[in-house]
Amino acid sequence: MLRRLHPDQPASFAFTPANQAWAEAQITKYPEGRQASAIIPLLWRAQEQEGWLTRPAIEHVADMLGLAHIRALEVATFYFMFQLQPVGSVAHLQICGTTSCMICGAEDLVAVCKEKIAPKAHQLSADGKFSWEEVECLGACANAPMAQIGKDYYEDLTAEKLAWIIDEMAAGRVPTPGPQNGRYASEPKGGLTSLKDHEAGRDPLNISARRATDIGDTIKRIDGTEVPMLAPWGKQSGGDVALAERPPAPAADRVPPKTAPKPAPKAKAKTKADETTAPAEVEEAAPEQLSGPRAGQAADDLKKISGVGPKLEALLNELGFWHYDQIAAWTPAEIAWVDARLKFKGRIERDGWIAQAATLAAAR
Ligand code: FES
Repeated sequence: MLRRLHPDQPASFAFTPANQAWAEAQITKYPEGRQASAIIPLLWRAQEQEGWLTRPAIEHVADMLGLAHIRALEVATFYFMFQLQPVGSVAHLQICGTTSCMICGAEDLVAVCKEKIAPKAHQLSADGKFSWEEVECLGACANAPMAQIGKDYYEDLTAEKLAWIIDEMAAGRVPTPGPQNGRYASEPKGGLTSLKDHEAGRDPLNISARRATDIGDTIKRIDGTEVPMLAPWGKQSGGDVALAERPPAPAADRVPPKTAPKPAPKAKAKTKADETTAPAEVEEAAPEQLSGPRAGQAADDLKKISGVGPKLEALLNELGFWHYDQIAAWTPAEIAWVDARLKFKGRIERDGWIAQAATLAAAR
């Protein structure tokens, strides 16, 4: 397929202020002289904002990175993930047509798109609301056939279900992403045959569908305000909150730790490999914990921290954490203490909780 710029182009492009701040923060991720490496995330954010990549957007990104326009054009026209023509104002549907999906009914899904949207891929529907294309495997083969709509996956689809999803979106509603046939995730259709303890008391949505529902940006054009903008590798964007400025919790609210800190692991003889590859172990220390939200204050919505869902929030409350500033104040030893009590080890650092909590605490 020949990938060319669309003949009809807008006169100009500008990131929204929040997206501009996000883009500038991304550039700081790369070493001096390697800023061009930010080209794909910046082009992607431009596409998330506009729905497709216009020539002015490509050139704007090139200018931000100090690149000749042709270099950015080469990247934009090479990768199929970049849409070089206008997409539906409501949604662009990407139907997986690879083997698992094909044998499970992808052709029926494509037929729905042809009938309800446009006869050919990349054409806009008559009302301009939808467009579609067939794509290669999206990695959800166990839930075939499936489609990516906007940011999220709709799985275990039928022609009828896809037609209903399109109608719902046309009416301004966004059906819950994830399996559409009652399956929880990718377990056997007849239900779990082992590890059934997992079913008791779980969130009704699997973690991907939960995250998609909580953020609610499935088919939204991204303006940069959807989630806190963080640059945990260094300088933060969107507020420049320095970690040193994080507010301490009032002493009056402090209660003794509910759980005694774990004893430090016994030192063992170091091997040559340990010296070169093993990360330094951090001794655990219990953070200050509260028996409930502070007097006169409601509990903070910890789910605003990326990576925290309802279950994790309940667990954090149980451990004595109710406010953003408590989390923002955790030291490495305290992170190690909390980490040891969460089911998903490493999440705090991986998702940048401390920086996120500091931003949220500063915005209260
Ligand atoms: S074949 Fe469709 S997701 Fe893999």
